[in-house]
Amino acid sequence: MITYPGYDDVIQRALRHGQRHLFTLWNDCDDSEKKRLLDDIAAVDFDLLSRLYRQAAAPDAAMSMYEPAPYIALPHDAASHAAFSEARDKGVDHIKKGKAAAFVVAGGQGSRLGFDGPKGIFPVGPVTGKSLFQIHAEKILKYAEKYGVSIPWLVMTSQANHEATAEYLKSRGRFGLDEKDVILFAQNMIPSLDTAGKLILESKCSIFKNPDGHGGSLTALASSGALAEVDRRGIDVISYFQVDNPLVNIIDPVFIGFHVTRNANVSSKGLMKAYPEEKIGVFVKFEGGAIGVVEYSDLPVELQNSTDATGRLTYCMGSIAIHLFSVPFIKTITDGSGVSLPFHIARKKIAAYGPDGAAEIDGFKFEKFVFDALPLTDRNIVLEIRREDEFAPVKNKTGVDSLETAQELMVNQHRQWLEKSGVQIPPSAKIIEISPLRAVDAGDITGGITLPDEERIYLE
Ligand code: UTP
Repeated sequence: MITYPGYDDVIQRALRHGQRHLFTLWNDCDDSEKKRLLDDIAAVDFDLLSRLYRQAAAPDAAMSMYEPAPYIALPHDAASHAAFSEARDKGVDHIKKGKAAAFVVAGGQGSRLGFDGPKGIFPVGPVTGKSLFQIHAEKILKYAEKYGVSIPWLVMTSQANHEATAEYLKSRGRFGLDEKDVILFAQNMIPSLDTAGKLILESKCSIFKNPDGHGGSLTALASSGALAEVDRRGIDVISYFQVDNPLVNIIDPVFIGFHVTRNANVSSKGLMKAYPEEKIGVFVKFEGGAIGVVEYSDLPVELQNSTDATGRLTYCMGSIAIHLFSVPFIKTITDGSGVSLPFHIARKKIAAYGPDGAAEIDGFKFEKFVFDALPLTDRNIVLEIRREDEFAPVKNKTGVDSLETAQELMVNQHRQWLEKSGVQIPPSAKIIEISPLRAVDAGDITGGITLPDEERIYLE
């Protein structure tokens, strides 16, 4: 008989939902551990989980109808150059009015990278070893200086890495950003299930949960009060990016300019897919007109390989998870009026705890994806960017999208900025890093710069 004062309902609810196994190690738990388990159970939405389990066991084969999404192509003629220049002016004006905030999602688990700790702490500076967080923070400081405004930095963590992230940013003095301009909040967690649909123990007396995906960011923005805070400060554009892309142009006047002049609710950056199997989602236009993203694994092979008369991929625009969200739009989809992003289901190995100790089991993890917010509005644009300018994801330990590829892209970018600005690159120079405090684009490299003839150069 399992009892605990004040928790009889919770215990009965778990038993009614076939979760007796959660109490297998009940007698080994001390009082506070028992309470923790019961608090975990009390927070479980059993209806949602049984719906998700049914979906996992019998995936919905229904396919949406779509065609390639329209997009604003890179400037290629006089008219498009003029449009970009106009967008830049508009964007600069908007940023200078203090209407933009930066938003990094940093709640992921970084399992592919195998880094112990928040991914944002991962060192990536090719010469300095600056962390991802430091690079982002210094960029934001530089934009703030350039445009003469304060730019709040919203940082979404997960319950698993919140303390470590907060501690890190505090101990490094938030890299010079004002305390009031760094707004940290944690996303929600959702329990995983085993292949029989049962909750999983993570330790003797706690349930295994995973962060609810980057799609949980919009709800977390609202529920944490961060959205209300930026709204109070008169901000109407939130620039969303992922922590693992050190090349991201966080506050981009051209992007913001197009977003504002086209009166968009969501704007997204896209790039030409490098090859059909490249593992990035593609922008599509759904029947009915809304733009969205179809994951690479959901794009049928024939569509993946299909090309137009010029040989270009029909579904060529890949999503790199850089978006602008208008604040009123986020408010409408998080105000509790019933709109909710769907959960995606992934079968994964899960580190479970059983009577014989820790064991890896098969199970289902549930995550929301931020791009599912795109079709919730028809005021939605896609802007093409050049891959080498803005996309260097650090996902894997080695090979594709690894530290090595990201650092190479960073060095190439900084070399190009110097060349463009007429700075002589010494013959020995192999690895070049420019501090974001000095430059966030080629135009910031000014003045007579003479570089030392060394293999590793850091321009402060
Ligand atoms: P990824 O999908 O690459 O996941 O996240 P990840 O956790 O970083 O890495 P793996 O898959 O475990 O190896 C893309 C971005 O979304 C954030 C991540 O921090 C990263 O910036 N993210 C992901 C969240 O903030 N929360 C989540 O629940 C998932």
